[in-house]
Amino acid sequence: MDLDEAERMGVDELRDLQLQRLRWTLRHAYENVPHYRQAFDKAGVHPDDCREPADLARFPTTSKADLRENYPFGMFAVPEADVRRIHASSGTTGRPTVVGYTRNDLDMWASVVARSIRAAGGRPGDRLHNAYGYGLFTGGLGAHYGAEKLGCTVIPVSGGMTPRQVQLITDFRPRIIMVTPSYMLTVIDEFEKQGLDPRASSLEIGIFGAEPWTEQMRREMEERAGIDAVDIYGLSEVIGPGVAQECVETKDGLHIWEDHFYPEVLDPETGAVLREGELGELVLTSLTKEAMPVIRYRTRDLTRLLPGTARPGMRRMEKVTGRSDDMIILRGVNLFPTQIEEIVLRTPGLAPHFQLVLSTRGRLDHLTVQVETRPDHPADRAASAVAKAIKDTIGTSVEVVTVEPETLPRSAGKIQRVIDQRS
Ligand code: DLL
Repeated sequence: MDLDEAERMGVDELRDLQLQRLRWTLRHAYENVPHYRQAFDKAGVHPDDCREPADLARFPTTSKADLRENYPFGMFAVPEADVRRIHASSGTTGRPTVVGYTRNDLDMWASVVARSIRAAGGRPGDRLHNAYGYGLFTGGLGAHYGAEKLGCTVIPVSGGMTPRQVQLITDFRPRIIMVTPSYMLTVIDEFEKQGLDPRASSLEIGIFGAEPWTEQMRREMEERAGIDAVDIYGLSEVIGPGVAQECVETKDGLHIWEDHFYPEVLDPETGAVLREGELGELVLTSLTKEAMPVIRYRTRDLTRLLPGTARPGMRRMEKVTGRSDDMIILRGVNLFPTQIEEIVLRTPGLAPHFQLVLSTRGRLDHLTVQVETRPDHPADRAASAVAKAIKDTIGTSVEVVTVEPETLPRSAGKIQRVIDQRS
C-alpha cells in the first residue's frame, strides 16, 4: 500500500514540519484576519512567539461565536476572488457558520479524504456509494472529491429516498459506503424490509461519521451488514470530513492527519492543556489552510489523544464520546446520548433506534428514553432492563418507554437524539 510521505514520518520529523507550518499559519492569520490580530494583540502574543509547537498554548482559542460574529466572510484570510468554494453548517440556532476554501485548500481536503478512505481499506478502482448529504454540508462533496482523488468510482447518491439507496447498492454493487451511522441503520432496516439479506450485498467497508457512535453500534452494523465499520471525523470549521480516520487493520481510534491539523486537548472548564491520555475538549489548529486558517478552534468534542499505532508518527484521538453541549445534566448527573446508545443496543428485543426527550416536571428536569421494539421480538422486559442499566451504570433514574416498531423518527443525515421540551 502506498502511504503518503507524511504517513510514514516519525514523530520528530512531523513536529519539525508542524512547527514550520504553524508559524506560517499564525503569521497568515495575524496579517490577514482582523479578528486574529485583535485577539493576539489582546493576549499579548505575536506569531514570532511560537518557537515550538507547545508555544501554541499561549495563543487565544477560537470559538463558534467568533465565527458567527464575523459572519459571513470576516474570517477569510485571502481576497474573496480567491475563494473557490463556500460551505456552511446550519447550526440549530442563529446564523450559520460559513467556511471558505481556496483551490489549494480543496486539493488538500481531497487528499486527506483520499488518505482516509485508503486507511479504511478503500483502493483505487473501488466503487463507492456516497450517501452523505450533498450541498452546504461538507459530508457529501468532501467524501466525493476525496474518493475521486483516490481513484474510486463515486456514486453520488446523497441522503434520503431509502428504498432507492437499497436498489442502487444492489444494482451497482459498491464495495464501500460513506454515510452517517444512524442512516446506515435505516438502510440496513430497509434491506431487511425488502426481504434482502444486507450481509449478501456487495458492501465490504462502511466509513461512518458526522455524529458520535459507539462500539456497540460498530458491532451491530458489522454483524448485520457483514462489513468493516470504521470511523471518520471532521468538522466544517476545520475542513470537513477527513481531519482524522480510523485504520481498518486496528480499529483503535482515529489517526489525526497531523501534517495538516494540530491537535490539543483542553480542560473545557479551565482551558488548561491536558496531557496525552487525559479526557477533554479537542482543539484544532489548521496548518496549511489558506482561505480560512483556524487557530486553536474549540470543537466542543470530547476525546483524548493517544500515541500512534498503524501510523506511528501521528497521534490518535479516541472515538468521540460526545460533545460538551450534548451533555445532559440530570439532577446533577452528567449523561451523554452515547451512554444510552450502548445500553439500548445491547438490550435484547430492542431496535437500535432511540430518542431522548427532556421535559420539566414540577421543578425538576425529567428524561424520557423512548426505545423501539423490533418486529417479532418480545420486548416486555426491555424498558425495565434499560432503566435498570441506566441506573446502574450512569447512576440516575429515567423513564423508559417502548414504542412500536418503525415509529421513532429516522434521519437521512445527522440524527437529532435529544428533544428538549424544558420550559
Ligand atoms: O459533520 C463533517 C463530517 C462529514 C465528518 C461526514 C465525518 C463525515 P459538521 O457538520 O461541521 O461537519 O459537524 C461537525 O460533527 O464537531 C462532531 O461533533 C460531529 N462529528 C463529526 N464526525 C464525528 C465522528 C461534519 N466521527 C461535528 N464522531 C463535530 C463523533 C463526529 N462526532
